[in-house]
Amino acid sequence: MDVEFVEHLKTQWLAMIDALEDPLVLIDENFNIRRQNLAYVEKAINPTQLDLKEFKGKKCFEVYAGRNAPCPDCKVANARQQGQKTSWTSTELFAGRDVEVRVLPNVDIDDSNALIVVHYRDITQQRALHESLARADKLAALGKLAGGVAHEINSPLAGIMAFAQMALREMSKDDPHLEDMKEIEAAAQKCKLIVEGLLGFARQDSPESVEPYDIVENIQATIRLARAMLRKEKIELRLDLPPKPVYIEGSKGRFSQVILNLITNAIYAMRDGGGELEIVLTELADAVQIKVRDSGCGIPPHIQRKIFDPFFTTKPVGEGTGLGLAISYSIVTQHRGTISVQSSEGVGTTFNVTVPKLRFTS
Ligand SMILES: Nc1ncnc2c1ncn2[C@@H]1O[C@H](COP(=O)(O)OP(=O)(O)OP(=O)(O)O)[C@@H](O)[C@H]1O
Ligand SMILES: [Mg+2]
Repeated sequence: MDVEFVEHLKTQWLAMIDALEDPLVLIDENFNIRRQNLAYVEKAINPTQLDLKEFKGKKCFEVYAGRNAPCPDCKVANARQQGQKTSWTSTELFAGRDVEVRVLPNVDIDDSNALIVVHYRDITQQRALHESLARADKLAALGKLAGGVAHEINSPLAGIMAFAQMALREMSKDDPHLEDMKEIEAAAQKCKLIVEGLLGFARQDSPESVEPYDIVENIQATIRLARAMLRKEKIELRLDLPPKPVYIEGSKGRFSQVILNLITNAIYAMRDGGGELEIVLTELADAVQIKVRDSGCGIPPHIQRKIFDPFFTTKPVGEGTGLGLAISYSIVTQHRGTISVQSSEGVGTTFNVTVPKLRFTS
């Protein structure tokens, strides 16, 4: 084949590979880079300090993970040994992103040396979408079930409470069963709170309870409810709200429940030694964003995916039902909004709630 033609073909192939948005690299069995596409260079650590030629001969884990040994979850060696394609998901390669790493081993470039193709695909968005659909399904099914059960329990529970209260009224102070009866009443009261939580979680708002309201005023009123708790736990509150009303549409009482849930979770996370709670409301073009940030214990990464699940709690038995965030999630969704979390262990947690804004703002 004529050399010029080969060069022409090579340029065409390289242009195609460089046009890919996913990073792609060819390495040898010792992780030395042989070739890479442009996206690979752009995603490297400190790409500006390395020029294209410098990638050749460098180890992939050096330029990509900033390590001096292969990444702990790397399956390149396995794939080579078994001669099979393999893939895994890494959350460590690019901060805060989920990356699918696919390995195609034993690509014969020349006879003596079988190389390995590594392809990286950012699946953060895809995973988030998948999780949110799965969560919505799960919540809808659970909501129906919980609503049904709560409804059934409600009547016998009301009976227990009514009879316990009646008996308490009629008992004399030295009745040997007085304390037992108080226990029954307190336990029934606790059940009532759980049942109310379940019903709240299951309930879809009726159209008449959906109304336009000022979210700034709603947040101020909710914070007033939490002030005493904040003082008691020595938590400093930093509040940043717009000076004028901002209107959204939904159920005022239920939205207030979301903010209160986020505040009580934050307080619980800072129960050892206080801290700082920041609540910021930002008006965007079509939405309002409410940020609730605490300087508490933070949420370990493996737990972050579960916190919106109904009944997920890390609190000791009897202290929490694990419904707070599941209910908040369902309320925010009913407001056609989104809720997300960012957290770092030992540093703190930020919840972001975004809900659509009504067009008029006065
Ligand atoms: N601000 C926060 N800081 C640290 N962890 C948090 C925070 N908010 C939520 N979590 C974690 O998420 C879990 C679930 O929260 P959720 O509000 O749904 O339930 P709960 O607070 O445990 O119980 P309940 O709200 O019923 O009292 C908590 O147990 C905790 O592990
Ligand atoms: Mg809670």
